[in-house]
Amino acid sequence: MIKIITVIGARPQIIKAAALSRAIKNNFSDKITEVIVHTGQHYDANMSEVFFEELNIPKPNYNLNVGSGSHAKQTAAMLIGIEEILLKEKPSAIVLYGDTNSTLAGAIAASKIHGPVVHIEAGLRSRSKAMPEEVNRIMCDHVSTLLFSPTISGFNNLVKEGFNKEAKAPFNADNPKIFHCGDVMYDNSLQFSSMAESKTTIISKLKLEKDKFILATIHRNNNTDEPERLNALFRSLNDIALKYNLDVVLPLHPRTAKLLETNLTKENYNNVKGNAHFKITEPASFLEMIALEKNCKLVMTDSGGVQKEAFYFEKPCIILRPETEWVELVECGTAIVTDANEEKIKAAFEKLSKGVNLKFPKLYGDGKAAEFICGEMINCFT
Ligand code: UD1
Repeated sequence: MIKIITVIGARPQIIKAAALSRAIKNNFSDKITEVIVHTGQHYDANMSEVFFEELNIPKPNYNLNVGSGSHAKQTAAMLIGIEEILLKEKPSAIVLYGDTNSTLAGAIAASKIHGPVVHIEAGLRSRSKAMPEEVNRIMCDHVSTLLFSPTISGFNNLVKEGFNKEAKAPFNADNPKIFHCGDVMYDNSLQFSSMAESKTTIISKLKLEKDKFILATIHRNNNTDEPERLNALFRSLNDIALKYNLDVVLPLHPRTAKLLETNLTKENYNNVKGNAHFKITEPASFLEMIALEKNCKLVMTDSGGVQKEAFYFEKPCIILRPETEWVELVECGTAIVTDANEEKIKAAFEKLSKGVNLKFPKLYGDGKAAEFICGEMINCFT
């Protein structure tokens, strides 16, 4: 029996962890014990609790309740808490997801006391170290023992950074093992797709018609904190909604909600508030997001996860960032990177909304990435 400590903190990690917890419960409960640590990075009920309930994830064994703060304050509080738990629980490995401050804290805490790190969603790169997430994932990858990349391009990034793809067991932080295994988020989308519409009412509640609305999310710090960019994004959404007679559904991350009034010009703010097409809501649950993704015409987002979910449900996507780590979406032509540039956003909308010749090949595995990861962890740590 191996014991893993799973660290989660931000909304997408809670969702990603559901895939592994499900695989352990269904297929590996005699071989893996999981202890879940929630750092408390996300603490509002609709950013955290709702996902545990909806996705049937076991409640965390520990909650560090770190809350918001500067990067240093938030990460430091997590580090102290995670180290204490690692020393007490003595796990076979710590399992970390993605690229948030919770990921970084777990990677530092474990590697300093020589605990093996398993990184799920390894190898992704945006090539912009101005993004806190890029720094977090590079640091985590380079202290990990097992690295699971969701994409071939992520796997190749690791090879380029010096990871040996022929490494032989026993594996450790100096002799790590890299895998291309598919995406646990794809596992989840397949698992929950069929129940999304029957278990949620968001489509009828917001009076939405299939293919008659844009699903938009905006939460990256450079978009929310820089008024010029936030204004450009909302002007674009407003103009597109009016020109094409489409609704815009915008489930707002608390970060964005707090900054709308302060960072939008009065004119832009009033336009958005006065535009009946805008349906600004609280953050959506995972099942609600899936229902929105399945029914919308097109997605506009600066989120990493939502870009891919658009693809899983065969919707075109406008990426409101200067770059993306999910490069295959752009390569196959279903997504366009526009940054917060009004002209580019409008041109991309014009092109993608026609929906001509869009193809959605299987890029993210077979829906069994979590089972694969469990099997390799057992091989390595037993
Ligand atoms: C974090 C991750 C990001 C991920 C995102 C998903 C980092 C560096 N970033 O960004 O990669 O895509 O989560 O959602 O870890 N807030 C609340 N209530 C909450 C959570 C946040 O009000 O429950 C507000 C606070 O004002 C906080 C701000 O949102 O200061 C930002 O939260 P933080 O956790 O620092 O980063 P995210 O923007 O959520």
